[in-house]
Amino acid sequence: MLTIGPVQLKTNLMLAPVAGHCDLPFRLTARACGSVGLAFTDLLCPHGILKQNDQTRWLASTNPDDQPLGMQLYGQDPDIMAEAARWAEGNGAVTIDINMGCPVDKVTKTFAGSMMLCTPDHTVTVAERLVKTVKVPVTAKLRLGYHDGECTAPEIARRLIDVGIQCITIHGRTAAQRFKGQACRDGIRAVVEAVHDAGSGRVPCIGNGDVKTPYDAQRMIEHTGCDGIMIARAALGAPWIFRDTHELLTTGAITGEYTLRQRLEFVKMHYHHMHAMRGPRRAVMRMRQCISGYTRHLGPCKPLKLAIVAMTEADHDRFDDIVDGFIDAAGDAADRVPITWAQRAEQLAQSTRSLASA
Ligand SMILES: Cc1cc2nc3c(=O)[nH]c(=O)nc-3n(C[C@H](O)[C@H](O)[C@H](O)COP(=O)(O)O)c2cc1C
Repeated sequence: MLTIGPVQLKTNLMLAPVAGHCDLPFRLTARACGSVGLAFTDLLCPHGILKQNDQTRWLASTNPDDQPLGMQLYGQDPDIMAEAARWAEGNGAVTIDINMGCPVDKVTKTFAGSMMLCTPDHTVTVAERLVKTVKVPVTAKLRLGYHDGECTAPEIARRLIDVGIQCITIHGRTAAQRFKGQACRDGIRAVVEAVHDAGSGRVPCIGNGDVKTPYDAQRMIEHTGCDGIMIARAALGAPWIFRDTHELLTTGAITGEYTLRQRLEFVKMHYHHMHAMRGPRRAVMRMRQCISGYTRHLGPCKPLKLAIVAMTEADHDRFDDIVDGFIDAAGDAADRVPITWAQRAEQLAQSTRSLASA
């Protein structure tokens, strides 16, 4: 079991903050699939929280089924960050994470996100202020460094732990890399060692980056010694990745993967949460966007994808009919696993090989 300060998690697997994707409807869906130890909100603007602007209020919204929840804040003004953290603590967050990895200009130009790796003294001041302000554990999510080839994260992580940060998540790329290249497992291992050393083994370090299948999570733990895994992009089309990864990590095998019918029930659940919380227009738009992620895990399903992409707001009450029609047409295949993780891993390996030989 993984603990972050006093917070005990049921698994060591975390759903990452992914701006524009990991909102309440998606988090509830991933939790229903099973084995999400902790899920995060998207990065939240502390000014937006304090002014209670509509978009931030939505991004921060949660409900009792959405636990345990970490809220992630970005910013470098200690007063404003502390006030926003207090609000988050009072509104459902069991941990508060400071974003120290976002490479997007809108964030870095305010000296927040990954730019915090370039100002370690000030970053430590902000972290200490949050630790002293709230009772819930404060955590930080870092990249390896800011510039290409840099690995400043181990030293920054040590200093953050000295002021009371209770968990470090490390994405194995620099900010300059953005999402290019491979996440560097050696870099992650260096941060894990620094965190374990500075926290005398009591502060966990979570590995993140390029975990695309449960087998990647297993390899990440073996290679880096990290205490848990955070998954972002791979979860978007397969929110059941946590369930299957947990099974692999705890039993050594993945059995009973969800069938096509079961996977599509989760897709329907995602749509219905979105519909109930955000209304028909946004629900249809979201499904049109995210169906291609799901279809990678549904086997041959072009008619389903085309039907969903063609939906307009006027079709909002036809979503279940479209999905159920596809399930009926699938016949016996509906109750089989459309593509296993072993097959998905082979697909990914093949596309890496063909890219390398191109
Ligand atoms: C579209 C997108 C939005 C993201 N938004 C956030 C965010 O709000 N906060 C954050 O800490 N990381 C964010 N990330 C980074 C992910 O949490 C994660 O660190 C990164 O994608 C690597 O993990 P993965 O290989 O499992 O995707 C985002 C990534 C993507 C692709």
